[in-house]
Amino acid sequence: MTEERESPACRVCGGRVQEFLDLGPQPISQRFREPGDTSEEFRFRLAAGQCRTCTLVQLVEEVPRGLMFRDDYPFTSSGSTYMSEHFAAVAKELVHTELTGPDPFVVEIGSNDGVMLRSMKDAGVRHLGFEPSGGVAGMARASGVRVLGDFFEEATARAVAAAEGPADVVYSANTICHIPYLDSIFRGLQALLAPDGVFVFEDPYLGDVVAKTAFDQIYDEHFYLFSARSVRAAARRFGFDVVDVRRLPVHGGEVRYTLARTGTRPPAPAVGALIAEEDARGLADPATLVRFAGETARIRDALVAELTALRRAGRRVTGYGATAKSATLLNYCGIGPDLLPFITDSTPSKQGMVTPGMRVPVRPPEAFADPYPDYALLLAWNHAEEIMAKEHAFRRGGGRWLRYVPDVHTV
Ligand code: SAH
Ligand code: TMP
Ligand code: ZN
Repeated sequence: MTEERESPACRVCGGRVQEFLDLGPQPISQRFREPGDTSEEFRFRLAAGQCRTCTLVQLVEEVPRGLMFRDDYPFTSSGSTYMSEHFAAVAKELVHTELTGPDPFVVEIGSNDGVMLRSMKDAGVRHLGFEPSGGVAGMARASGVRVLGDFFEEATARAVAAAEGPADVVYSANTICHIPYLDSIFRGLQALLAPDGVFVFEDPYLGDVVAKTAFDQIYDEHFYLFSARSVRAAARRFGFDVVDVRRLPVHGGEVRYTLARTGTRPPAPAVGALIAEEDARGLADPATLVRFAGETARIRDALVAELTALRRAGRRVTGYGATAKSATLLNYCGIGPDLLPFITDSTPSKQGMVTPGMRVPVRPPEAFADPYPDYALLLAWNHAEEIMAKEHAFRRGGGRWLRYVPDVHTV
């Protein structure tokens, strides 16, 4: 029996959101807990839909931001060497292309541990990060980066504009997709950006998520899955245009969007080209996302069958990387300590804890080789290159990586 649900209104345009995927009741993805803590966890229904009017893919239920972005928010950007290099390169490029006037000013939304703004500080550029999660904001401050411990939204952006003047660049990585209140973000940008300033942001790309059936990119923090078409539609409602797009290989496939006030810069050919490609691939066609949902269920069944077979055969399997996205995978597939006895992770604050919902213990990286398992389930698949290079001894010793993106296979 299928339950009839009223389709919710699009958070940006008010159109009808057509649900295409229900990943079940899920906990807060990065709320790791003490093993002894068996109190009831917060749950919400993790379901995604697409707006029939503007094509924006969004969650059907919103998790209150204060439950996710807390002083104990565990994710630190600098945990990946590859990503640290990526953000140093971003800073360098912005300094040379956009921050060229006298006394330029750059603002970052979601500056986390200061991974990008550190380079701005080193280059002597006036900067300010917005970062509501107290722990990571403190790490950034400790490295000399200026941080405002608050959420970016209309009111806080206005306050900064009044106190510090217009920003030449507002930059954001892996954060705008976390923010349901995009209207407030855009009004904040209207107040804060210089007349010829740019808003540059990069987030996971719907095109890559669909191409790789990367359903675990959907979790509480990832409220939106953007495409060039949906970002352009949103921007236009608030007096901005998408003037450039660039596909990025990071985090499993992203797009960097450059927005400017309407009429201030001509859009680069790449914008129209990417939208045409999206249309040709059917990203705005509901049937594409229905197919994606079918593939998602098939991959879940195949992965659980594989893990069950390995357990029956007496093979040791451990998880690698207690990512936020692994909360979706483990809880949707019902993978607990019986199929996956533990996960190793380099983040100190996750170690010694259990994962949200399925309660899989998290251990430090040293536990991986002590002794090596027969199979390692690569949960941090967005860092595959970096991790498989670092852990080359595992494969050399006969170990196998078990992967589930874009389909279940071993390497
Ligand atoms: N930019 C970093 C961090 C991404 S994690 C990177 O790409 O690695 C997302 C961060 O956004 C978290 O640190 C979270 O605390 C922060 N965040 C969430 N909502 C925000 C908002 N409205 N304004 C500013 N930061 C926000
Ligand atoms: P992310 O996918 O949200 O970036 O999180 C990556 C997680 O994987 C984070 O908890 C740190 C962990 N990790 C490792 O354990 N080892 C590594 O080499 C890398 C790059 C990440
Ligand atoms: Zn819409």
